Amino acid sequence: MENKYLGLRAPMGWNSWNTFGEEINEDVVKRSADAMVESGLKDAGYEYIVIDDCWSLRQRDENGLLVADPEKFPSGMKALADYVHSKGLKFGMYSCDGPLTCAKYPGSFDHEFDDAKTFAQWGVDFLKYDNCFKPKIDGNILYRRMAMALRNCGRDILFSACNWGVEHSERWINSTGAQMYRSTGDIRDDWTSIRKLALSQIGKITHSGPYCHNDIDMLVVGMYGKGDCINNAAYVGDFASSGCTDTEYRTHFAFWCMMNSPLMIGCDIRDMNEETVKILTNKDLIAINQDIESRAPFYLGSNPDEPREYFYMVKMLSDGDIVIAAFNFSDKKRTMSLDMFDIGLPITTGKKFKAFECVTQTDAGFISEVLVDSVEAHDCRVYRCKLVDR
Ligand code: GLA
Repeated sequence: MENKYLGLRAPMGWNSWNTFGEEINEDVVKRSADAMVESGLKDAGYEYIVIDDCWSLRQRDENGLLVADPEKFPSGMKALADYVHSKGLKFGMYSCDGPLTCAKYPGSFDHEFDDAKTFAQWGVDFLKYDNCFKPKIDGNILYRRMAMALRNCGRDILFSACNWGVEHSERWINSTGAQMYRSTGDIRDDWTSIRKLALSQIGKITHSGPYCHNDIDMLVVGMYGKGDCINNAAYVGDFASSGCTDTEYRTHFAFWCMMNSPLMIGCDIRDMNEETVKILTNKDLIAINQDIESRAPFYLGSNPDEPREYFYMVKMLSDGDIVIAAFNFSDKKRTMSLDMFDIGLPITTGKKFKAFECVTQTDAGFISEVLVDSVEAHDCRVYRCKLVDR
């Protein structure tokens, strides 16, 4: 690979799956690329436009190569990649480690090197690699195969592994060469799903960092129950979700940022309301997510494998700032408190924190000795703190 910085920070972009499922085509992708620029998402740091499953014909061609569906993509993938690039964005696609993808289109098993070459020729910059119809071979071997093919295909292609965290992938995925890895099953556009995925990763907090970020799945911010997978016969019901409140979407976004998760938007970015744009472009939360060190936060609770539903997390940033976040995933308002001694700041230091609350983007005064928060159900606070003299 030429670009030594590929995957250094958590990737940011948009993926077609949550909203469009099988109903994906050239026009949707182009208009989403336009929207990424016009809505300010690009300026906020989002760069990848990724087509998920269902883009190809059901059969490979006579040479065994993948073929883009000419009805969905009449101009072909190369032209589409050129269009995305002309907007100053990067282009992503999808395949699978089995002979078929999850929606039963051809997968890359035993075609890894040919497919990597095809993607490179098309101008692809990102490959999401799923885990359906997996042959009886260890996952680490299959992900290594594709990583090796991508690293030698003549183009920098970010490798987004998606094995949902099975086979303890957090233990071996980094060594395959993947720059991000899905650690969870599929997200749904409802609070129960967000809470489940979020809490499931607290015990794995340190298995994420520069060049290999734990991907807790695509964001559902701004979907409001409108996911189109409902129309997709292969996935009926998967996204027939209720949607969330804006408070829940904010907490979802803040948690993904604290965890250094990739930020892959899943809503229809051609049609976002003001609040959705505000949440997704919150520069203070994005700065935490994109901090150069991607330092794992620490969880202030007794058993990270069975986390409580309301808790503090603290993250060190590369410039010396400290982020203190209070999350309330429970269904009741909670009063929470955190002793600064427990995060390494005893009173004897003569120091205190000057705090800025990043979710509401407001000054939060000073924190000394003990922080007390009253947090509504499903809400959160994220304080970016500077050390100052008392
Ligand atoms: C799996 C993945 C999803 C999506 C679908 C596509 O379920 O986890 O993110 O890519 O396949 O079929």
